[in-house]
Amino acid sequence: MSLAFFNGKYMPLNEVAISPFDRGFLFGDSIYEVIPVYSGKMLEGELHLQRLLSGLSAVGIESPYSLLEWRGLITNIIIGAEATQMIYIQVTRGVEESRNHRFPIKALPSVLIFATPFTSPVDLSYPGCFATLQTDKRWQNCHIKATSLLANVMAYRQLYLEGKPQDEALFIRNGYVVEAASSNLFMVKDKVIYTPPIDNILPGVTRHIILQIAKKLHYQVHEIAPDANTLEKADEVWVSNSIEELKPIIKIDDHCIGSGKPGEVWREFWLHYQSKKWDGYEV
Ligand SMILES: Cc1ncc(COP(=O)(O)O)c(C=O)c1O
Repeated sequence: MSLAFFNGKYMPLNEVAISPFDRGFLFGDSIYEVIPVYSGKMLEGELHLQRLLSGLSAVGIESPYSLLEWRGLITNIIIGAEATQMIYIQVTRGVEESRNHRFPIKALPSVLIFATPFTSPVDLSYPGCFATLQTDKRWQNCHIKATSLLANVMAYRQLYLEGKPQDEALFIRNGYVVEAASSNLFMVKDKVIYTPPIDNILPGVTRHIILQIAKKLHYQVHEIAPDANTLEKADEVWVSNSIEELKPIIKIDDHCIGSGKPGEVWREFWLHYQSKKWDGYEV
């Protein structure tokens, strides 16, 4: 059983006992972060931790730790240099036994950190993923990495009910495709890269790395959201997050994307991403 850090103490993960009165549990009143670790080192740990701190500040939960202290706690939780793992962090507003929505809340934030091994499902032999367009039914603060993810879960449930449990849900907001249910969106057309701007979507750290790679490889990038019609006519479509890394989409609803196979630009970016994650290659 891997080690967890919970409210000031290290303990086996299965001994963590969350109070039924924790506001994270009752109201989804909490912020989380997922940080991939390769060869014992966080990939862009600073960006992930900055996002955690700005999410906490956005919802008015005071971070119990400084950036340096967060780093120290995570170092103690990392399982060992060999495992590819993700560090999961959740900070809730804390326990208040009145179960009341109202403020002021006198509780101290609860902090949980643990590590679990993971393997990205995507490699060079990956055949590509299908996607479905859906209306974005999330709240209006999608830049905050909050644990209240019911709308995202409902998007996946919809896919499941439609018999497509492995598809990605791509969200349309005001006529534009802005993000996927748990990843950022990229499109390639005539060797130009397009990705929705980070106003009211999650500023993905993987997205940030992909944009750095694009710069290094001298690709032209436009931060604009495509409409559904434009997206369906793209040469390539990808989604990105810290666990699946860079995943090619080969069909959206009934429309094949490009050749119907993962594209050459995806392959180039995927390879650069691997160098970055293993060798700390500077992009
Ligand atoms: C809605 C959403 N967008 C984008 C991302 C990608 O973020 P990152 O690349 O930092 O993992 C995630 C990751 O969970 C997400 O849930």
